[in-house]
Amino acid sequence: MKTLTVGSLPLIAVATARPPRAFLKTERKTHSMPPEKVEVFTAMESWVSQRILPLRKPVEQSWQPQTFLPDSSLTVDEFNDQVRELRDRAAELPDEYFVVLVGDMLSEDALPAYQSFINTFDGVRDETGCSPTPWAQWTRSWTAEENRHGDLLKTYLYLSGRVDMRMVEKTLQYLIGAGVDVQTENNPYLGFVYTSFQERAAFISHGNTARLAKESGDLVLARICGSIAADEKRHENAYTRIIEKLLEVDPSETMLAIADMMHKNITLPAHLMYDGCDPKLFTHFSMAASKLGVYTANDYADILEFLVGRWRLEKLEGLNSEARRAQDFVCGLAPRIRRLQEIADERAKKMKKSRGVKFSWIFNKELVL
Ligand SMILES: [Fe+2]
Ligand SMILES: [Fe+2]
Repeated sequence: MKTLTVGSLPLIAVATARPPRAFLKTERKTHSMPPEKVEVFTAMESWVSQRILPLRKPVEQSWQPQTFLPDSSLTVDEFNDQVRELRDRAAELPDEYFVVLVGDMLSEDALPAYQSFINTFDGVRDETGCSPTPWAQWTRSWTAEENRHGDLLKTYLYLSGRVDMRMVEKTLQYLIGAGVDVQTENNPYLGFVYTSFQERAAFISHGNTARLAKESGDLVLARICGSIAADEKRHENAYTRIIEKLLEVDPSETMLAIADMMHKNITLPAHLMYDGCDPKLFTHFSMAASKLGVYTANDYADILEFLVGRWRLEKLEGLNSEARRAQDFVCGLAPRIRRLQEIADERAKKMKKSRGVKFSWIFNKELVL
């Protein structure tokens, strides 16, 4: 299977017989940050304490999954009433919404893989599992906040009765086992560019599932997705602030890192998902998310444009010649992506081929994508 993509979205699927990527061995570049650059991150520690750690939300002020779910401390009858109400509201949402919500939940709940991934970054990793450095404190708090997202969505899905939980849970087990492969090379410059982009993508997609739930009248689910989106926005602020600071202290290296990640194409973290049945599961999930307007190729270009503006990349000065070329590439990329997408849309229209795809998550029902 080979798929040409914009962002994580498939443009043209080319059928070739190949096992899912999760089961292929890939050679990856590692430890690409020169060792002396570790000093840049050590020198930023007090800045992280002052400017990043305050972006954590104290546990005492945080919502918990229970805030939005039927209360299991009630009597059986009262609890059942709340579950019934949840199911009545969920009944108004279409199957394709549930496919997207499952994919979003899995993208959250494969969290052990993401914490491991962040702890591959040289110079900022949590060396002991409870390291007191501000970098490690941030990563653990971020993980603890994120952990609520998958827990909440998974429990909601379980209670909704709309999805095949065994297949969903199997996909999660495969996904955590497969890991994440987004080519950040143990390099925190690349890594924080990736997390900046990814948190904004998560903010957008949860915001869109909230909007759709509200439109269908499920106000509790709208609050669930909206509250998760608000967390993602705070995380986006933290990671984009880190890159902003790196652009100040080491502009050329940081500019090159942004261009490198954009060359590689930012892929959603759950791209190695597999349910034991569909080797193109991630492509199909992405198509469903795109069709529903939860995350599209246009969102990818919008995020890039947002980050170019957020980091004031067009006006960035003090770059070496290689970094200036990288700056031109990154600042001109969003319009190119939009053009590519238009060409792909036109081609798809001409082919007029929508196809039915069965999803194990919704009891093998078929969606037209
Ligand atoms: Fe999240
Ligand atoms: Fe997040």
